[in-house]
Amino acid sequence: MTKKIILTGDRPTGKLHIGHYVGSLKNRVELQNTGLYDSYIMIADQQALTDNARNPEKIRKSLVEVTLDYLAVGLDPEKSTIFVQSQIPELNELTMHYLNLVTVSRLERNPTVKSEIKEKNFNLSIPAGFLIYPVSQAADITAFKADLVPVGSDQLPMLEQTREIVRIFNQIYNKEILVEPEIYLAKEGSGRLPGIDGKLKMSKSLNNAIYLSDEPEEIKRKIMSMYTDPNHIRVEDPGQVENNTVFTYLDVFCKDKEKLEEMKAHYIRGGLGDMKVKKYLNEVIQDELQPIRERRKEFEKNIDYVYKVLEEGSLKARKIAAQTLSEVREAIGIEYFNR
Ligand code: TRP
Repeated sequence: MTKKIILTGDRPTGKLHIGHYVGSLKNRVELQNTGLYDSYIMIADQQALTDNARNPEKIRKSLVEVTLDYLAVGLDPEKSTIFVQSQIPELNELTMHYLNLVTVSRLERNPTVKSEIKEKNFNLSIPAGFLIYPVSQAADITAFKADLVPVGSDQLPMLEQTREIVRIFNQIYNKEILVEPEIYLAKEGSGRLPGIDGKLKMSKSLNNAIYLSDEPEEIKRKIMSMYTDPNHIRVEDPGQVENNTVFTYLDVFCKDKEKLEEMKAHYIRGGLGDMKVKKYLNEVIQDELQPIRERRKEFEKNIDYVYKVLEEGSLKARKIAAQTLSEVREAIGIEYFNR
């Protein structure tokens, strides 16, 4: 039986946080452990460099941090191929071939690219490499002939562009070489986690994240500072659980749903203080993160092993990308000397 192929990845721009964990990491580990897929997990260092060219040290450091986070949550190099984008030069050649199939205006219309340009204040100084990263992402995905790409919904436009490139390529060169991937969205309820300040997105730049590697006191401090219902001033006041970050987190992390429903009812009625709810959330999150942090500490003692995982994964991934590239070159008709 040929297994379906999964490819996914992260930009190494910092340690991973619990938003990554519920939005994608947990899901990847589950998919990995079904044994039904061939999983490739890519650390997209080149993509990270498209807006960090002047700060490669950050990317280099984050490469190790992200790998430690992967291993800590249970991604297993025996079951998933973990590799580094920049170590697969074939991806760059694929990107060059695909760039001819995409217009500049199509790239400028990509909604994710558009909002990132705003976010990063590029104004008129958009690095060319940044503008075209959706095409390089199409190379990442198609090089492995991935069927499924488990990512967050912010990546939908990337998948759409990839699918377009696949269709145009296969049509022009009249061969079914590239595979149209499907997005695999994380289960409902485990989607995007807001920041501890209640902002829509948890992110390092917003300084509102709880990291997988945070120490217990740090986690507690962050939870105690969390955004709740601004109108819930005295304990007796009736409170709101919608848009109340503490309850949003409990919805995601708390396994005792009965207890949670009781707490919500009590909070809405009035008489349940924020402090108590936060203390409970702290217990729940500490229980979830403790084993992850401990495993991470074990791997931290052996950084040589971490690099070995990446090196071996990259060697294996490179062979597959090279095979796809040679099919692509053949289809375009530039294998002049293979007569
Ligand atoms: N763009 C993704 C992110 O920002 C990272 C990424 C790069 C990726 N290449 C990929 C994800 C290929 C899935 C498939 O998180």
